[in-house]
Amino acid sequence: MSITIARTRAELAAAVGDATVAFVPTMGALHDGHVQLLKHARPLGEVLVASIFVNPTQFAPGEDFEDYPRTFDADLERCAEAGVDVVFAPAVETMYPSGFDTTITVDPGPLGSILEGAARPTHFRGVLTVVAKLFGLVRPDVAVFGEKDYQQLTLIRQMSRELALDVEIVGCPTVREADGLAMSSRNIYLTADDRVRAAAVSAALRAGVAAGPEGADAVLDAAHAVLDAAGITPDYLVLTNPELGDPEPGQEARLLVAARVGKPRLLDNCALTIGATKLGS
Ligand code: PAJ
Repeated sequence: MSITIARTRAELAAAVGDATVAFVPTMGALHDGHVQLLKHARPLGEVLVASIFVNPTQFAPGEDFEDYPRTFDADLERCAEAGVDVVFAPAVETMYPSGFDTTITVDPGPLGSILEGAARPTHFRGVLTVVAKLFGLVRPDVAVFGEKDYQQLTLIRQMSRELALDVEIVGCPTVREADGLAMSSRNIYLTADDRVRAAAVSAALRAGVAAGPEGADAVLDAAHAVLDAAGITPDYLVLTNPELGDPEPGQEARLLVAARVGKPRLLDNCALTIGATKLGS
């Protein structure tokens, strides 16, 4: 099957028919991280749909919506190589037929106002609203998201479950550059010097993981030390449980960091087990 570009629900329906659908939503500017999601999703449905839509409602005024990289032709090639059957690339009016002010939106609940949500208060409302709309248009059986945006993945899982959307949500490990930097469409904003410094963000996570057996405080101290040495002050560096609640000694945990390095705000996170040492001791 050669790749089909669909711009509307009718074109999508014609391309998909009765097949089971695996779906990978993106904002384009595809890199190897996106390609891994597509490859992971390929065997999960009879038809693989990728969407390319730079969603205005998840950008706040003054953020980079206008400047967000748009590389549609190169994206199509990457999709074809990864085995995508249908690229859904809707117009803004297709996604928001009644405009932005009158649209019904999804309230992300308490998890939407911590971490990224504290820095970007309207962001997750925009993300969940567009993902719910994309699910309504594409009607996937399975949808694949990256662990790179761990809070987003957690919220989408919660939305699919709590709003009974009946879409299985699958998470995919973060794809990294050789020095550990998590791939991101926004890494192109890094200057050469900042690109070198940016490696400290993932190095901090690795230092945290290595200190895991010594307990939560040791994890945070080790990670902070690596960021300090690179002159990076994080917006947040936190240890949570896998659902973004309070971590428990001796259990699986998640270490999440956000830090501005030059222009872009870099996000990264990883899984770890923290030692059974009492927290705060
Ligand atoms: P975008 O930033 O284009 O990312 C699309 C998907 O790729 C997300 O699930 C994201 O977590 C994943 N991804 C990005 N970088 C990755 C990496 N280095 N390794 C693995 N996966 C990676 O996230 C969005 O778009 C939007 O918010 C969207 C969900 C499409 C809604 O507009």
